[in-house]
Amino acid sequence: MNDKERIAQHAALQVADGMLVGLGTGSTANCFIEALACRSREQGLKVTTVSSSTASAIKAQQLGLTVLDFEQVKHVDMYVDGADEVSPELNLLKGQGADLVREKLLATASEQFLVLIEANKLVERIGGRFAIPIEVMPFAWQLVKKQLEANGGLGDLRQNANQNGYALSAYGSLILDMRFDERMDAGTLNDLLNGIPGIVEHGIFYRLATTVLVGKDGQVQQRQIGNL
Ligand code: A5P
Repeated sequence: MNDKERIAQHAALQVADGMLVGLGTGSTANCFIEALACRSREQGLKVTTVSSSTASAIKAQQLGLTVLDFEQVKHVDMYVDGADEVSPELNLLKGQGADLVREKLLATASEQFLVLIEANKLVERIGGRFAIPIEVMPFAWQLVKKQLEANGGLGDLRQNANQNGYALSAYGSLILDMRFDERMDAGTLNDLLNGIPGIVEHGIFYRLATTVLVGKDGQVQQRQIGNL
């Protein structure tokens, strides 16, 4: 078993009977969906799920999990997802997969937000490694980019995988990948991006994670808000 599978199993053990569980998107979230389906099949764990993406919903359904329509959900007990960067304060960078809107809705709505990462995702500063993904209404991208540049941002529209056009998010937004000066901390950037009209959502998950499970060399370390 590799570190990703190990943290996914750890997370699945934290799910209790009757919970409504939010499913993340990406390779780590996929391991969690498999571990949760395994508990449900082999140990009779009764859960319902809601998914942050079509891809995860299909995977969960194929493995026999019940997936609710997003529109039906008013409350989520636990949301489990991966991340691209995690800071010492447990702020996150997410969104390389462009499913940010549902991901942030679930992260905000959940009682517990459990983040699963391998140790190489730990960073000193959010945005230190990756550019920050910023979903913008297609007609607004030039005005948003100008505002971001006025605040020291550097970057451009994300290209699609074939490099022959622009990448679109799951709901048809364009994505600006922007880098900022290292003096801009996650809180400052979060406030800035939340305040610019035309931005649909962005990849900074500020003070949303409740627990981070870090996998390294066969061990799982748990970091919790209030216990750093
Ligand atoms: C999806 O939009 C992202 O936020 C992923 O959760 C993040 O990129 C982590 O993905 P992996 O688990 O595949 O590294």
